[in-house]
Amino acid sequence: MERNLSLCFVLVFLVPFSTLSFVDAEVTNISTDKQALLALKARISDDPSNILTKNWSTTTSVCSWTGIACAGRHHRVTTLNISNLGLTGTLPPQLGNLSFLATLAIRNNSFYGSLPEELAHLQRLKHLRLSVNRLSGELPESIFDNLPHLELLYLSYNMLQGKLPSTLSKCKKLQYLSLGVNYFTGAIPKEIGNLTQLKRMYLGNNKLRGTIYTPFLLNWEISSHF
Ligand SMILES: *[C@@H]1O[C@H](CO)[C@@H](O)[C@H](O)[C@H]1NC(C)=O
Ligand SMILES: *[C@@H]1O[C@H](CO)[C@@H](O)[C@H](O)[C@H]1NC(C)=O
Ligand SMILES: *[C@@H]1O[C@H](CO)[C@@H](O)[C@H](O)[C@H]1NC(C)=O
Ligand SMILES: *[C@@H]1O[C@H](CO)[C@@H](O)[C@H](O)[C@H]1NC(C)=O
Ligand SMILES: *[C@@H]1O[C@H](CO)[C@@H](O)[C@H](O)[C@H]1NC(C)=O
Ligand SMILES: *[C@@H]1O[C@H](CO)[C@@H](O)[C@H](O)[C@H]1NC(C)=O
Repeated sequence: MERNLSLCFVLVFLVPFSTLSFVDAEVTNISTDKQALLALKARISDDPSNILTKNWSTTTSVCSWTGIACAGRHHRVTTLNISNLGLTGTLPPQLGNLSFLATLAIRNNSFYGSLPEELAHLQRLKHLRLSVNRLSGELPESIFDNLPHLELLYLSYNMLQGKLPSTLSKCKKLQYLSLGVNYFTGAIPKEIGNLTQLKRMYLGNNKLRGTIYTPFLLNWEISSHF
């Protein structure tokens, strides 16, 4: 009886989810990207230079918007860079729908609130640069599960807390890692020692403890880049 019940669970819940992700992959297009960027714009409560307010106009192509670059066969959004604009706001889950995004740079603004776990869907992401904001909360456990191309991760100068997920070591291509000046606690995951491409790492000014054993340590430089 118990076995039958759990089988029902699998059928009832797994089937619709897998259908959903299939549909998602099939129907996204540049309109999906536009909706995601408009969702971001809607979350911005202060835009002192009115850049997004004026420039991110629904009547123009997203690819011509300030801070946006498009590329590829499908001409999808590959870069979102709204660094240094003095923006205040939060990050919407729709960012995870920018499925062709390679660069996400929102450095040096006043974004607050937590990182949406939907960022984990950005499978093509190479650069994630969110340093110098007021982001808080924990890094979602699943966030690094599926970012195989991530080369640069800069989250320094925020108010992030909690443990560093050991899944960080799944980002095999990681070269630059900067998580300094946050409220991270706990042990530094020893799996970070598996990241063979790592060139620079800055974890300072947190409440982390522990040692990393790695044959690659000699290639590392502890630097304060952000
Ligand atoms: C994007 O896909 C939606 C839903 O399939 C469709 O209605 C829309 O016309 C498409 N937009 C473009 C620009 O291809
Ligand atoms: C937005 O800015 C870009 C340059 O970054 C410019 O080419 C475009 O015309 C602007 N669009 C609007 C609607 O202001
Ligand atoms: C983002 O834009 C800023 C200008 O505000 C520029 O200095 C920086 O190099 C850009 N970063 C990326 C990753 O494109
Ligand atoms: C950060 O952004 C502000 C505008 O909000 C700008 O004046 C300042 O130069 C930027 N700082 C850096 C280090 O880029
Ligand atoms: C985009 O993301 C939101 C929230 O994560 C979701 O509700 C929506 O259905 C997604 N898909 C499209 C095509 O906009
Ligand atoms: C990663 O590191 C852990 C702990 O240092 C080790 O046990 C594991 O075998 C490593 N995995 C890979 C895939 O290298």
